[in-house]
Amino acid sequence: MSSAHKLHSLAWRVRSGASTSLDAFVCGWLEMLDQTLLPTTLRTIDCRTIETVWEGIKSLRVRGAPAIGISAAYGVCVGLQTVFYDVDGSRRIPSEEEFFSRLDEATKYLATSRPTAVNLFWALDRMKAKAESLRGQKSVEEIATSLLDEARLIHEEDNVLCRKMGRYGASLIKDGGSYLTHCNAGGLATGEYGTALGVFYWASEEEGKKIRVYADETRPLLQGARLTAWELRENGIDVTLICDSMAAVVMLQGKVDAVFVGADRIARNGDTANKIGTYGVAVCAKRHNIPFYVVAPRSTFDLTLESGSLIPIEERNPEEIRRGFGKQTAPDGIDVYNPAFDVTPSELITGVVTENGVISPVTPEMITEVVGKNRSVEDALKNRY
Ligand code: MRU
Repeated sequence: MSSAHKLHSLAWRVRSGASTSLDAFVCGWLEMLDQTLLPTTLRTIDCRTIETVWEGIKSLRVRGAPAIGISAAYGVCVGLQTVFYDVDGSRRIPSEEEFFSRLDEATKYLATSRPTAVNLFWALDRMKAKAESLRGQKSVEEIATSLLDEARLIHEEDNVLCRKMGRYGASLIKDGGSYLTHCNAGGLATGEYGTALGVFYWASEEEGKKIRVYADETRPLLQGARLTAWELRENGIDVTLICDSMAAVVMLQGKVDAVFVGADRIARNGDTANKIGTYGVAVCAKRHNIPFYVVAPRSTFDLTLESGSLIPIEERNPEEIRRGFGKQTAPDGIDVYNPAFDVTPSELITGVVTENGVISPVTPEMITEVVGKNRSVEDALKNRY
């Protein structure tokens, strides 16, 4: 077993010889596993400019809501490095004004990479808030190193939260059970371990439950086939790959005990944006009385949005459908509609597994208590009744 969920798909690397914390900030770079090459090639790219980080997010070299957030946090550090160098390449110390103006520019730029996963904006806001909290009190060098610490913290926290979600979610898994997932919500989509797939890892590795997982291949970019099938198999989970259009019949045949998916943004009422096709899976699950669970950390909730209709949905290049992976599969120039996400209404969701427990039923009141106030589900229930 190779523990693929512990792959370091994102890491802050530092040039050897860098001895101070400021060196670690100024001479570091974001190493990103290029997920577009999986499952055949394991290769990382070194993001030494903010443009490379932006392109990595835009092109789905890194993807999955939590991993996008972590990349953006490190991306802010990469973007700020330029103000610490003169045109001739020698090191300099920028003024506070210059530092904060570049911070503003860098966060605004990274925010344009992808619109749906709220973790991107959450991480950028957190980085800005960290810097602002130190403005006027610390030197720019100290603020810079604190920003690298903050990015590392966002990364490490995600690893812890995924395991907490995994443990809560595993209580919904039975020994000998069979489950379905869509897209990739595993170690590749997070710091490591995963959200929906973290539930399978915990159930299998920590609780010894024997499970089978059906992975939808996830048209058009095949995150399910290229990433989930690969990642689950590498971790020793019994996985069967199906085309998206087979999910309904697999449910009809009684092969699915529950569905577990990740999320890109969850509105205040529980409506959930996730990879295109998720809504269809939820409708099928309802038809067959199969529980449908979303697994996501608090950073994926957007309590500013009352309902899912307000979630911005990314539309991607039609060529992803006309010539996916380079082969022409549709008439040249044919009209294509290519939304990357859909929204599953909360009434189709049995529960949302968070780091604070399983919210079920999914109501705006429980979401506000658990997510808005950072309470455990147990405490939120005690409080209310
Ligand atoms: O377009 P992608 O691959 O970034 O879409 C990813 C998903 O929809 C995931 O299911 C979601 O981000 C959850 S990842 C833990």
